[in-house]
Amino acid sequence: MRTLPTLISVLLSLTLLCGADGAAAGDVKAGKTKSAQCAVCHGTDGLSKMVEAPNLAGQPSAYLEEQLRNYRSGKRSHEVMGVIAKALSDKDIDDLAAWFSAIQIEVTLPK
Ligand code: HEC
Repeated sequence: MRTLPTLISVLLSLTLLCGADGAAAGDVKAGKTKSAQCAVCHGTDGLSKMVEAPNLAGQPSAYLEEQLRNYRSGKRSHEVMGVIAKALSDKDIDDLAAWFSAIQIEVTLPK
């Protein structure tokens, strides 16, 4: 049964090529542009550039959206992210989540 995984990866590549995230309304390309303001801490590739900041690359977009909305509302509290998220519109959040979740990461387990 190799058909399903193949189909899934083809669909994933297609959604990436189209610049659209199937489930969410986020625009990957717009998210890439907007992510410039996140790069100093989270990296241009979504891999953290400082110990306090988590990696965002490859995280599910629904998770990223929820965290950003929670920072914005204050439900999740953090000095820096609270300030940053307050400046984001719903569309910004969808686009940013689409971008970071579309970054493909490869995992190597320790031996
Ligand atoms: C000045 C550094 C800095 C910048 C700039 C920054 N972040 Fe963060 N971000 C952090 C830190 C530190 C945390 C961890 C906060 C915590 O402990 O809750 C974080 C956490 C997050 C999380 C939660 C991740 C998780 O695994 O739960 C998301 C999502 C996120 N940032 C998105 C963004 C986005 C999108 C931008 C750009 C619009 C951005 N951040 C800009 C420092 C930064």
